[in-house]
Amino acid sequence: MQNFDFYNPVKVLYGPGRTNEIGIEAAKIGKIALVVTYSDAPYLDPLIQRVKGLLEAAGVQAILHKAATANPQLCQAKSGVQLCRDHQVDLVIGVGGGSAMDLSKVIAAGALFPHDDIRKMIKFSHSHSLDIPLEKALPTLMLPTLPATGSEMNPTAVITDEVTHEKSYVWAPQCLFPQTAIIDPELLTTLPRYQMACGGVDIVSHILESYVNGSGEGMDVIDGMQEGVMKAVLANIVKAIECPEDTATRGMLQWASDIAINGWVTSGTYSFTPMHQMGHVLSARYNATHGATLSAMMIAWFRYFDQKQGNERYVKAARQIFGCTTPLEASQWMEKKFSDYGIQISIKQFGVKKEEIRSLAEDVQRISFSADNVLPCLPPLNVDDIEEIFALSYELGQ
Ligand SMILES: [Fe+2]
Repeated sequence: MQNFDFYNPVKVLYGPGRTNEIGIEAAKIGKIALVVTYSDAPYLDPLIQRVKGLLEAAGVQAILHKAATANPQLCQAKSGVQLCRDHQVDLVIGVGGGSAMDLSKVIAAGALFPHDDIRKMIKFSHSHSLDIPLEKALPTLMLPTLPATGSEMNPTAVITDEVTHEKSYVWAPQCLFPQTAIIDPELLTTLPRYQMACGGVDIVSHILESYVNGSGEGMDVIDGMQEGVMKAVLANIVKAIECPEDTATRGMLQWASDIAINGWVTSGTYSFTPMHQMGHVLSARYNATHGATLSAMMIAWFRYFDQKQGNERYVKAARQIFGCTTPLEASQWMEKKFSDYGIQISIKQFGVKKEEIRSLAEDVQRISFSADNVLPCLPPLNVDDIEEIFALSYELGQ
């Protein structure tokens, strides 16, 4: 195992109907809440009105910020920060999937950020990262409606600069952990099947990125936990897609999304996320759904590493997680399953043209490479390797 610090202070309330406690929980934190949710999600309107009523009944003023889109943008955060300042907001509540929750975190941090340009808190490049370090944020409360990012239980927020088309993140355990997360499986029944499928793949990707980058002695406990969670998620995605009313299964996947990325099953491994870094470029350029980009990347990565030196972890993953004998077979397994779920399996399906592949790789290089000009992972990859993986994905779209 690698050395690690483990810290996760999030208070979690799990169970059907526990949304009813949001007013009581919010009142413990603040008096004026900014409620951040999607700009265009009419199916969530009844929930938003319910949350507003519960907050006001508990004496918490609710100010709505219906601004989030898939791949939330800095401009949406800036308008939220302005609302916080105009109304002396002392609590930010995220209602929705990872996009709404991540946006709420950036707003919470932006409200106390000591600079007008909140872009300076986002890690858009290793070379000029964190011009002004993030030190404090307003407290947040999360009400997730989508099992995927586990944003309700981690200190990370992903955001896109709509001007430069760069998608990156801020990570700040010192101030971005939500104070409270209410996980209510009853909120998951309205989730459309495509989002449910993409969410399931995203959960697996968070653990798989860690698994294939694991190394060293003393990994049996971590490996076993990771394999167990990934296999359980993969075994239940179809049920979750086909049976929206099955709150036991959808709720279990919501909790799996938290376990995947709250530090429990990844402490002691490297925190590399190379497939995510490539997926972010696809989302930023083509507005591709996050989980779908991970579908395409996982399939291509396992093809790329099928015959490569240093692929022992990919061989182990193929055997232990997918029941296959080679990384290529595991790739084919994912290609068939993810396609059956209704998710894209190739970058060509996002609209990528062959002549754009090199510049995609160069975007990854510019945003996500380390100072020694490689994408951090085991083994490290250079820009030609990244181009080759994108090209492998492109070829799958025939
Ligand atoms: Fe993800």
